[in-house]
Amino acid sequence: MTQGCFDLYWIAADAAARGQGTGRSLVAAMERVLVSRAGRLVRVETSSQEAYGATRKFYLAIGYIEEARLRDFYKPGDDLLIFTRRLEQSQQAEH
Ligand SMILES: CC(C)(COP(=O)(O)OP(=O)(O)OC[C@H]1O[C@@H](n2cnc3c(N)ncnc32)[C@H](O)[C@@H]1OP(=O)(O)O)[C@@H](O)C(=O)NCCC(=O)NCCS
Repeated sequence: MTQGCFDLYWIAADAAARGQGTGRSLVAAMERVLVSRAGRLVRVETSSQEAYGATRKFYLAIGYIEEARLRDFYKPGDDLLIFTRRLEQSQQAEH
């Protein structure tokens, strides 16, 4: 129902293999596929809970920004965070 907007629904790296670039590689591979399909915007949802602090840092580190926050979405004090990344024209030209 969108023009070129895709949802990164879930991503996980084996707990024993985290912090070694696996997540970054998976997202880069996904973005290459999306660019080849005229994708222009990626959306991902996560939680504001402290347990997801590493996940938020991960998305920020790989070029995603916090686009929106629905306060108290999951439960009082636990917000829904929406991160996005725009697949730039220059990035699209690379693929
Ligand atoms: C989120 C997840 C997929 C990241 O995968 P990963 O392979 O560990 O991540 P990478 O090694 O590619 O990390 C890429 C960058 O993210 C940042 N980052 C990753 N884990 C981090 C952590 N625990 N704390 C701070 N920054 C972190 C770093 O800047 C890292 O770059 P650098 O190593 O060059 O400094 C992994 O932690 C995971 O499976 N978590 C549990 C499942 C989950 O929360 N999925 C998302 C649901 S919304």
